[in-house]
Amino acid sequence: MADQPSTSAAAASPTSAGGSPSAHVVPQQVELVAAPDSEGPGDDDDDALADSDSALGDDAASSTNSITASIMEYRTIQGRTYHSEKHNSKYFTPNDEQQLQSQDITHHYLTLLLGDKIFLAPIPDNVEKVLDIGTGSGIWAIDFADQYPNAEVIGTDLSPTQPLWVPPNVKFELDDCTQPWTWQDGTFDFVHIRYLFGAIADWNELFRQAYRVTKPGGWVQSCEADAEMLSDDNTIAPDSSIELFWNMLYRSAGKKLGVTFQPIQDDVQVKAFEAAGFEDIQSYTYKFPIGGWPQDKTLQEVGQYVQLTMLNDVEGYTLFLWNTVMGENAPGYQEFLAYMRKDLKNKRIHSYMKCRYVFGRKPGTASA
Ligand SMILES: C[S@@+](CC[C@H](N)C(=O)[O-])C[C@H]1O[C@@H](n2cnc3c(N)ncnc32)[C@H](O)[C@@H]1O
Repeated sequence: MADQPSTSAAAASPTSAGGSPSAHVVPQQVELVAAPDSEGPGDDDDDALADSDSALGDDAASSTNSITASIMEYRTIQGRTYHSEKHNSKYFTPNDEQQLQSQDITHHYLTLLLGDKIFLAPIPDNVEKVLDIGTGSGIWAIDFADQYPNAEVIGTDLSPTQPLWVPPNVKFELDDCTQPWTWQDGTFDFVHIRYLFGAIADWNELFRQAYRVTKPGGWVQSCEADAEMLSDDNTIAPDSSIELFWNMLYRSAGKKLGVTFQPIQDDVQVKAFEAAGFEDIQSYTYKFPIGGWPQDKTLQEVGQYVQLTMLNDVEGYTLFLWNTVMGENAPGYQEFLAYMRKDLKNKRIHSYMKCRYVFGRKPGTASA
């Protein structure tokens, strides 16, 4: 297992067993430095948001499953809908179209960050059964199913918000992943789990379940991000909205809700993979910029999409947390939202977040 340095520009082959390692290249982080024109006075706004994402505009009407009425009775907070009370879990972002758009844009920037890959684990080409936990808009499951037409892909979520028209080899199911999983031992060749920060109280249990339902020789991959925004050059001021609103909310809400929004700082992924019994564990950490301020062209584009996903729904990322930390309808929220949008567009703030990809193989050999 190796955490990659954040300054290498070269791609490297990991040393894992299984899959087809010779063809397997994991992209490593290009140095995240600001372009000279992102430091000058004036020109605060990063206006490179005109580009539209072809992944947007999916019909997010319902799942293909039969749905009981209660699961469609969404909670509503100030006009935004959240998953049904039927589940014990309380997840912090809405499940409406606006938030699903942000998820699709997130998928797009993560794919760009990985050099056009949607996963890193060295799975074999003939993968048969794949599970995507907390699938959200279903975009990863749909892309995977398109790339692997012979695989059967199942995406699960608390909310039936996935599109109706999907490749024939994808299906969606309602499931709370914090409850015991219903699949038999050794069902899947590949289990994919992405962006469940803020949703999981017990990461060891999550990956224990993932291990159990994976076939011997199969792979599990986790991608998580820390919600906290950072800068390496002190351009996030202590009195900025990023610090006083965004970072404050995520730090405080984690404690109140008993979940982490900082899975990288808390190092939950590798520890949970090791505790579950995975082998050939590899870990890759990336910094992704917020805004088009980096010098590197790819990171600049990544940053523009990260900025877009946030500006599209700052409210969706913070409303539930504001009410949780500050109290229901506490005053000041709209003002913070406005200042936060301004900070997000300010090219002189060189903010970024971290994400970490961890994958590991269940010991044993896949039977034919
Ligand atoms: C940030 S979105 C990520 C969506 C998707 N994994 C992706 O990366 O595109 C998190 C998703 O996890 C789902 N979720 C949260 N808690 C969950 C739980 N206990 N069981 C199943 N899904 C959950 C949410 O409903 C939401 O759709």
